[in-house]
Amino acid sequence: MSDEREEVNINYLYKKKEVGEKISWLTAYDYPTAQYEEKAGIEMILVGDSGGMTLLGYDSTLPVTMDEMAVMTKAVTRATDKTFVVGDMPYMSYQPSREKAIESAGRLMGECGADCVKLEGGKRMAPTVEAIVDAGIPVVGHIGMTPQSAAQLGGYKSQGRDAETARELIEDAKALEEAGAFAILLEAVPSRVTELIYKEANVPIYGIGAGPKNDGELLIVQDILGLFELFKPRFVKRYANLGEEMVDAFERYKSEVKEGVFPAEEHSYNIPDEEYDRI
Ligand code: KIV
Repeated sequence: MSDEREEVNINYLYKKKEVGEKISWLTAYDYPTAQYEEKAGIEMILVGDSGGMTLLGYDSTLPVTMDEMAVMTKAVTRATDKTFVVGDMPYMSYQPSREKAIESAGRLMGECGADCVKLEGGKRMAPTVEAIVDAGIPVVGHIGMTPQSAAQLGGYKSQGRDAETARELIEDAKALEEAGAFAILLEAVPSRVTELIYKEANVPIYGIGAGPKNDGELLIVQDILGLFELFKPRFVKRYANLGEEMVDAFERYKSEVKEGVFPAEEHSYNIPDEEYDRI
């Protein structure tokens, strides 16, 4: 349980890398989910801008605002104690300028209590990563299939599947490491390309759809619980079907209300007879 758990911090992540123990990482965007993830001993939580789609119902991550990220991040950090919380930087919260990037990252850390921030992009984002790190904020770089650039990448497609783009990914990872990112997340990248990056890197390399050879796995919590129906990437493994269980519970509740089965005696309050008679 959480009390006996070691606190997860950057030292912990590097220690686990050194001994070859993989890190468990899930997204969360709300208090109860974060609480249950911490109870289960999940080591890292990403408050991702994917919450814009899985929780808020947008059809991409682009409309997600800093204010929405702040609400979700604060809910998660209120629920966690030992888990390492990664605050995701939403679209246009860091791209326009380094000043804006430092301000947005600072908000996720200071106001929202995140332990570090994550942003999308390789070489071209390296100066921004460097500026945020110089401001004293730990950064996770995110390359491969980066949803905020889906329009440029030709949709939500795996990346690095030919020699040229694979080489670019390797250079992106190096640039991020040199810029001071303390970890790198690869999304939807061929396993063998991940392995090349992993072998060269001095920082932890995490994957979501990047094969097994890395320092840890991330998945989106609604995907593993069966709570997101719009699409199911190849890399998702479903561990529960909570969506189906919810519909079943809602249907049973509805029919018990219609049939007068609920509420029963045990769900109702009593007034003593003598008090009732005085009404
Ligand atoms: O927002 C998010 O959940 C992410 C993952 C898809 C990597 O950035």
